[in-house]
Amino acid sequence: MHGQIQHLSSGVFKGLVLYYTWMIYHVHIEKVNATYANLPSPTSHDSANACLLPVCQLQGAAVTTVEGIGKTRVHPVQERIAKAHGSLCGFYTPGMVMSMYTLLRNKPHPTMEDITEALGGNLCRCTGYRPIIDGCKTFNVFVGIHDIDCVFQEIPPQLFDQEDLLPLDPTQDLIFPQNSYGNDPVGRPIMHRSAISQATGEAVYCDDIPKTDGELHLVLVTSTRPHAKILDIDISEALQVPGVVDVITSKDIPGKKFRTFMYVSVPQVSCMGHMVCAVVADTRKQAKRGAAVVKIGNEDLPGPVFTVEKAIEKQSFFLPQRMIERGNVDEAFDKVDHIYEGEIRLGGQEHFYMETQIMVVVPSGEGAQSLFLLSTPNLCPGTVNSTPSISIPEDKKISNMSCHVKRVGGAFGGKVTNVCHRLTGRPVCCVWERGEDILITGARHPVLGKHKVGFMNDGRIMAADLHYYANSGNTTDESLLVIEKILLHLDNAYNMPNLRGRSVACKTNLPSNTAFRGFGVLQSIWSPWDECKEKSDYGSRRKSIAQFNQQNRWKKRGMATIPIKYGIAFSGGFLIQVSFALQAASLVHIHKDGSVLVSHGGTEMGQGIHTKMQQVGTILSHLTNTSAGPNTCPSAASFGTDANDMAVKVQYCLGSSQGHDLHMDWEKQEGQPYAYYTYGARCSKVEVDCLTGDYRTVRTDIVMDIGRSINPSVDISQIEGAFIQGLGLYNMEFSPSGVLYTRGPSQYKIPAGVCDQPLTKSSLQGIGEPVLFMGSFVFFVIKDVVAAACVEAGMVGPFTLDSPATPERTCLASNTF
Ligand code: FES
Repeated sequence: MHGQIQHLSSGVFKGLVLYYTWMIYHVHIEKVNATYANLPSPTSHDSANACLLPVCQLQGAAVTTVEGIGKTRVHPVQERIAKAHGSLCGFYTPGMVMSMYTLLRNKPHPTMEDITEALGGNLCRCTGYRPIIDGCKTFNVFVGIHDIDCVFQEIPPQLFDQEDLLPLDPTQDLIFPQNSYGNDPVGRPIMHRSAISQATGEAVYCDDIPKTDGELHLVLVTSTRPHAKILDIDISEALQVPGVVDVITSKDIPGKKFRTFMYVSVPQVSCMGHMVCAVVADTRKQAKRGAAVVKIGNEDLPGPVFTVEKAIEKQSFFLPQRMIERGNVDEAFDKVDHIYEGEIRLGGQEHFYMETQIMVVVPSGEGAQSLFLLSTPNLCPGTVNSTPSISIPEDKKISNMSCHVKRVGGAFGGKVTNVCHRLTGRPVCCVWERGEDILITGARHPVLGKHKVGFMNDGRIMAADLHYYANSGNTTDESLLVIEKILLHLDNAYNMPNLRGRSVACKTNLPSNTAFRGFGVLQSIWSPWDECKEKSDYGSRRKSIAQFNQQNRWKKRGMATIPIKYGIAFSGGFLIQVSFALQAASLVHIHKDGSVLVSHGGTEMGQGIHTKMQQVGTILSHLTNTSAGPNTCPSAASFGTDANDMAVKVQYCLGSSQGHDLHMDWEKQEGQPYAYYTYGARCSKVEVDCLTGDYRTVRTDIVMDIGRSINPSVDISQIEGAFIQGLGLYNMEFSPSGVLYTRGPSQYKIPAGVCDQPLTKSSLQGIGEPVLFMGSFVFFVIKDVVAAACVEAGMVGPFTLDSPATPERTCLASNTF
């Protein structure tokens, strides 16, 4: 190939070959050739997706990756995205950096339209996009930091100082300046401690860890039938494939099969994608070739169940079922003026973390000692889950295993369960491609809710009887926790004196659905309600919306204000599964040179846990591993920072935090299931094209009570990211029953826009999850708009609009045909 390849890093090839992520490298064309004949001569700049561009098209091109534009000397693009808090888990950040870098090479002072266009196609599951735009538009000399034209109606908090940014200087002579934050860093918007290394491509993820000598690669063979008996597994041809070392079946896995869905080889499969066996080879390509020729003899079993409706019909449920009740519901129904009964469905949602599942097991030390390199927020159960796959004595298991997590490229609950495999004597690496990940892992539980509500003429709700059915897939996994959480947040914003709730986990032939950020909480309650209404100027805007709707037949606007209440920490149900659910531990080393090393069990997956602990404990370096921070809770349920911060604070030597004494007695229906509640409210205004069902969020105001924030910049990014993720759940992302055919970004769409940045108000409380439900507010506004369209079409009375409110559903519900 002609031209100069400056830095074609392993990171690029990772995107090219394995992960199908959105790392983009910059292509600098030195001369015009047939491929790029439409570009200006003699030199043009373009960015390209590493996953999609064949190497042969680079004839005559110079290729620069994210490491090439700045490493020891950080490029202003990298610096500005990092300083604007636009990099959380950071797995996608190189793509954003290279798109912006290319734009600046072509146009040093881009407009907002240029920036939006340049970043189009880059996905981010963490930030909600606003901080990335904030960083990029500092290159536009005509636009201030806060002049996002589509949203901000008043000045949002100053999260970074524009004066503190490097100028765009082609020579890159300046170096990244150090910040100084005075004596007390708590409460300051300190940049995510890994943001720069994530923006320069230097941040190390699990697959970046140098390979060990003799490392083998593991590829899974999964079921193509949803419900079948396995008659035989013929591995003879696979063993003939050059490079294949072995095929692992159930016979090779000793001991108790903990969470059996995670383990290969069962005599019966209960979903498509159910792991059947695993091929281990010298290279990944060889392992894939081997997996392709494994022959599985199946006999279909009758009556697979995919939907909640079918599960109800066949009474296919996991136990226990849960119920909660107060007042006298039946008696109250006899006294109310009106009774309304109906159903509502909430679809599932793929986690779509940017870094797919990956695990590496390396024999270490003597005997059965092993090092586990994982990408999971649930470090300690990781060791337990892995236990059955390893032939070591029962009493030595955990002490022989050391689990390490450097950082996680997004998780959102999807990596809470994990599986590792180890062949005696050799390290093994298992990396899932995107399609495998979506096929094998479960998603958010789709839920069917049946409701009967009794209310008075003045609107007061006096009685409610609610029944929820969650589609759990083929195992219980975290489903018990999910159905409990549904009931524990049942009262929502309403004071219903007579209330009964029941929930059940349905057993179906889908991959086991699991916890996903904010699982179980469908609706919530109030606190900053009045403030939100005031800040959003609710009253007068409502009037102008009515006027707009009168003047427009096909375009309608709507507005809704909804409060939320969200319980923080793990409720009683989770404690049954994990005895140390609220516990955290830390080990602090203070060295003679004054440097400090803190080891703990909290994992960094973009939520800034290390940055916050640095602010709390003036920490210089972190280690997340089970050798020094054993028996700690998962970094989940919006509780990871609470638990681990406390462990660091409690004892700046060897510390541990028992956490809160939480419990729930479901027989007596009493207890304290959560540490505390986080409250918030949001107001959204949305415009819908009733002919196409397409919608646009015109403005969103969010008011959250998050206590005393340790790091407002990280918290605001978390709030905005959760909001955008919720927007996807309730209005866009769709997880149908049966096998999921949409197993990649080309078909499964997550929000990719840059115009839904909400105005947030912040005040340490858990915030990673609560705001996700604010995404539902756009759903309710769409429903408001559909109601207006129905009236105009002469339709009155209740109508059905299930979530997600896709354009098709919105259009049909609007009766515009
Ligand atoms: S920071 Fe964007 S995907 Fe994690």
